[in-house]
Parts: sequence; C-alpha cells; structure tokens
Amino acid sequence: MKVLVIGGGGREHAIAKAIARSPKHPEIYAVMAKQNPGIARLCKDFLLEKETNVKWVVDYATANKIDIAIIGPEAPLAAGLANSLEDAGIPVAGPKKEVACIEFDKAWARDFMNDNNIDGCPAYRVFSSDEGLKEFIAELKDVAVKPAGLTGGKGVRIMGDQLTDTNEAYEYAKELLENDSVVIEENLKGEEFTLQAFVDGENLAFAPCVQDHKRAFENDLGPNTGGMGAYSDVDVILPFMVAEDLETGKKIMKQTVKALKSVTGVGYKGILYGQFILTKAGPKVIEFNARFGDPEAMNVLPLLETDMTDVIDAIANGKLGDLEVKFAKKATVCKYVVPAGYPDNPDADKEVIFGDMGDAILFYSSVYEMNGKIYTTSSRSAAVVAVADSIKKAELLAQEGIENIIGDLHYRSDIGTEALIAKKVNHMKEIRGY
Ligand code: AMP
Ligand code: GLY
Repeated sequence: MKVLVIGGGGREHAIAKAIARSPKHPEIYAVMAKQNPGIARLCKDFLLEKETNVKWVVDYATANKIDIAIIGPEAPLAAGLANSLEDAGIPVAGPKKEVACIEFDKAWARDFMNDNNIDGCPAYRVFSSDEGLKEFIAELKDVAVKPAGLTGGKGVRIMGDQLTDTNEAYEYAKELLENDSVVIEENLKGEEFTLQAFVDGENLAFAPCVQDHKRAFENDLGPNTGGMGAYSDVDVILPFMVAEDLETGKKIMKQTVKALKSVTGVGYKGILYGQFILTKAGPKVIEFNARFGDPEAMNVLPLLETDMTDVIDAIANGKLGDLEVKFAKKATVCKYVVPAGYPDNPDADKEVIFGDMGDAILFYSSVYEMNGKIYTTSSRSAAVVAVADSIKKAELLAQEGIENIIGDLHYRSDIGTEALIAKKVNHMKEIRGY
C-alpha cells in the first residue's frame, strides 16, 4: 500500500508516524514545501514542492502509483487538491474545496451555520461595505472582528484584547474591508476546546478533546501564535468540561456534516476540527477547520489504536460506519519549542540540538537540515509529546524531554501543569456560577 502525505509540519509528522505504525507496513510518500527531517526519514520517497501546486502533486501521485492520500494543511484544500486527486482516481482523506470552505471562508461558514440552524452560532453579521457596520458594532458592544478569508489565525482582533473600544473595532473593520469581507460577532467568554473527528461524508469518529494554548508566553500572556502546546485527558473530556459539553459539541459537528452534504451535494471526507468556546450558555463555535489542528493532531494521533491506514481508507471510501476507531485511555501533553522572539521577531537559522527525549515523542515542525545539523526557521520548530496515565505525569515527561533540546529557543513550561489547569477550572466555575 502506497500512502501519500501532503504537508511538512509537525501535524504531518504525526500523521506520517501514525501511518508508519500500521502492521501493513505501507510505503509512505510525501509532498512538502520544506524538508521535514522526521517525515523524510519515514518516507520511501518525497517531493519538495509547494503543497498548493496542485498539478505537481497530482503528477507525483500518479507517477508513483499512490493508492491513497491524506492532506494535512488547509492551503492545498483551498486550492482544490482533494478535487484534483479524486479526478485522477486517487482516493483522498481531505475535503473537496466546496466543503473545505467551512474553514477558508468565515463569512460563508457563519451564514451556513445560521441558514441551517446549526447550534452554537454566536450573534454575527457579515459586511462587504461599511453600511450599517458602525451601528452593528454599537449594538453588540463587545465584539470580535474577523477577515472572511484565510489568514492563519492572525487577522482576528478581539475587544479587550487587541481592540480597546467600539471605535477601534470600527476602524479595524474598515481597514479590513479594503481587501475582504468582514465578520463582526459577539465576543464569547469562556474556555476553549478542540474537538476533532474523522469524517467519511456521513459518519463521524471523534478523537478526545484537546485544549491548545495560543498565547506565546506563560500564563496565557503575549501575542497569539499558531499554538504553543496542548493537552488532553484520560476521560476524553477536559478537566473544566462536563460530559454534556462534549455531547453538545458532537451534535453540532454531526449537524454540520449533514448540512454540508445537503447544501453543497458534496460529502465531507477528511478531518473536521471544531474550535469551541465553553460559555455560560454552553459550547459555541469559534470556527471550523477542514483539517487536524497543529498541535492538536500530535496529542490525539499517538493515542490512536486503530490502524491509521484503515482510518484513511474508511474516510476516503465512505466506510467509517464499519470501522471501530479507538483511542488509548491516556492523557497527553504537547509542548512546542519555537525560535527565541517568536512570533514577532523569530530568530531563524540558529542550530538546534535534540538530546534524549526519554519517554516523550519528538515531532519536527519547521526546521531544516544542513550538513547533518538542524536549524530553526521563523516558525514553530518542534514539539515534544508525552503520553501517560494522568496529565500531571505527561507534563513531567514532556518537560523532561523538552529540557534536552538545546538552542536559541523558547517554550511554555506551564502547559499541562496543575497550576494552569486549576486556573482554567476556576475560570469555568466563575463563568458557570457553580
Ligand atoms: P480564529 O482565527 O477564528 O481561530 O480566531 C483566533 C482566536 O480568536 C480564537 O482561537 C479565539 O481565541 C479568538 N476568537 C475568535 N472568535 C471569537 C469570538 N467570537 N469571541 C471570542 N474570541 C474569539
Ligand atoms: N491549533 C490551532 C489550529 O491548528 O488551527
């Protein structure tokens, strides 16, 4: 079996590693813009090419007689890579662009939720001109301002955070309108969690909940990043959640998959990522992504007990209903090392030395290898993941591993610690009022 992995980040290293565990001993191929040392080592062959260069990727897949493909990042999904691979007769785990737009068009995604009565949609409006804009911001008072298109999570500004008042929100929205439509929505308050599912067009198989940490510095301070690390718990839900929160999240994702098919005529085949915020009124949807999260993939994939090649096959061929997808009942903690100064002034091209990871797992993200040495880029460098019987134990193991990575680097030592988790539990208690 020849499996093609598209993408070259930490998330794709985790995908490739899960595939490599298959007792079927699949041959792994990859397409990545930059050579990920971890993925390269797992591959029979790889192509260094932009993942959005659809023609090249399809030609490579055809020439190598690939049996099945999985797409990691969002950009090739937006470029229609899943459509073109399928047209070339290659089954693929990754949604076609008609349904992947749930991620890359935030205006479409909100209108889709609203039109189809999907639960958890905040008060919002989409603007393509400034008509009524000022009034709507004044009406909501506390708002989030988002560009409609794909911005890698960088364009969103929230009141009380990057925006001080309704005037600033209005000015920022007007600035965005020069290039794109703008979504204005209510500023939701609570703890965030990620729920990821394998989807075969109809059926969903859910992974354990994960909480990512977007802020660059300890105690959730500093600028937003792609994600500095994440944790998951033995019980599938997180310490600040109750079982009903998970059920609500699942229901919303099932409604979404069903409505995507009925609205577009295209079945959603791939990984659906629900970013939820747990408010006083229950889980609300921050956004959907059409792929695994990075880092969240690195938390859940090491727990996957089902053969990953069977999962990919079931997604691509509509057979998830017949497959039992199992995750180990363990906790995980993932911590990213990033270049010093990340995200504003990252110190790129500095050597990184990876020591003994002990019981933790290392996933390379954005680093490059030259003359046998590994160097940083301006993005997140590598992640250390530990799996254990409790979050506390996983945190200790991840911390031990990450301390053996030497370089001009930064990481958050607080992710997964009892103190930070207690803070989140208390935050949720305050919000719920019990
Ligand atoms: P996004 O690019 O949509 O993931 O947004 C980036 C971050 O902004 C999210 O992870 C949330 O922390 C925050 N955010 C987005 N939308 C809202 C909202 N309506 N209310 C509060 N926070 C939000
Ligand atoms: N960790 C957030 C994301 O992958 O979008």
